[in-house]
Amino acid sequence: MLKMTDEALAAAEEEARTTPLEDFDVSRAERFAADVHRPFFARLRREAPVHLCRESEFGPYWSISSYEQIMKVDTDHRRFSSLGGISLGERNPQFNPRSFISEDAPVHPKWRKPAMPAVGPDRLGDLEALMRRRIAAVMDELPIGEEFNWVERVSIEITTQMLATLFDFPWEERHKLPYWSDVVTSNPGMGNNSLDEMERRRILLECLSAFQGLWAARKDGPPAMDFISLMAQHPDTKDFGDDPFTLLGNLMLLIVGGNDTTRNSISGGVWALNRHPEQYDRLTADPSLIPNMVSEIIRWQTPLAYMRRTALEDVEIGGRTIREGDKVIMWYVSGNRDEAKFEEADDFDIARKNARNHISFGYGVHRCMGNRVAEMQLRLVWEEILKRFSRVEVVGAPVRVMSNFVLGYEELPVVLHR
Ligand code: HEM
Repeated sequence: MLKMTDEALAAAEEEARTTPLEDFDVSRAERFAADVHRPFFARLRREAPVHLCRESEFGPYWSISSYEQIMKVDTDHRRFSSLGGISLGERNPQFNPRSFISEDAPVHPKWRKPAMPAVGPDRLGDLEALMRRRIAAVMDELPIGEEFNWVERVSIEITTQMLATLFDFPWEERHKLPYWSDVVTSNPGMGNNSLDEMERRRILLECLSAFQGLWAARKDGPPAMDFISLMAQHPDTKDFGDDPFTLLGNLMLLIVGGNDTTRNSISGGVWALNRHPEQYDRLTADPSLIPNMVSEIIRWQTPLAYMRRTALEDVEIGGRTIREGDKVIMWYVSGNRDEAKFEEADDFDIARKNARNHISFGYGVHRCMGNRVAEMQLRLVWEEILKRFSRVEVVGAPVRVMSNFVLGYEELPVVLHR
């Protein structure tokens, strides 16, 4: 199976070398699903770090592929707006729930702030012991010496438990959270057409109704640190209760934000260490490398390939002129492999000195809110793995997600060794 992957990669390298730059369209989901996207970005970084694709299924868009230029766009929120949405596709005007990731100031900070304490530094101490116990319980149930899908039994389960905790969601119904999240990301705007639009809306309205019930029960309840209580009781967000679309949009953002990203980092770490067995040996010899390895996993995996902005005025950048209204895609997946920033950038190096400088969490005012929870979660996962298993061995090729936005795994077959 690995041979097939190598052949596909060689074909992609040839295609990336011979295709004229003006015909480059790096948004094609099937290249990410086959893990052959990198040669295209490598050429863009070398020859056209600010590049206009004139024609694609999402219309024209600019690709920003170098670390340096991505930082310029991400920190320039006055000229590069989030209001047009954060994915390549256009938003559907008839079904367009608002959320703070797709807002600019003054709405963005006003809606972001109330939810922050649920994932802030003060909360992490309380969450750590609880999450460790839950992660340990999931791991204690796993079979030794028998093949199973790591994504389903470990990555999804642990991420779901964390989300249910952050929302204080009814425990027995927690599996609805990743289900709803998958429905949101089964989105043609992200290169995935797997769900009929009407069916998608029906499921999301079901989700809305569940959250409306929790919101009503908590808005006048005692203060609490879960996302729902925090927002329902805060003067700046409490009116979401009267505005179903805004309620749905913001709560879905908090679910989706933490779901695929953390899940795919948990799976990505196992895959990375199997691709680089010398790093696995290094880790078992020195577990104090775990915190740095967590950053390296998040860099190497880059769970979200990009974020989009829309230019509010004409902007000169990298010798090109982006016009007002143009779509601008910051390809984090490329910036994280930029040799000008990361030495031997395609290597997975758990002791990499500047691993923490990755841009997988974005950078400017929209920088990921859940980054510390995600890092803590990954640290705990690896601490608990090392206590129990000498190796998590990948025994077959991973099946990847069909998306140009979420970079991750549907299946990762493994066998555990004591
Ligand atoms: C924003 C990545 C985990 C909630 C973002 C952004 C990225 C990102 C790229 C956009 C940044 C920008 O536009 O500049 C990740 C990755 C994660 C992760 C790679 C895990 C490895 C989480 C978790 C949560 C979360 C665990 C919460 C449960 C959010 C929210 C936003 C966000 C609410 C919007 C922030 C804003 O617009 O101000 N994340 N995320 N994320 N993330 Fe995460």
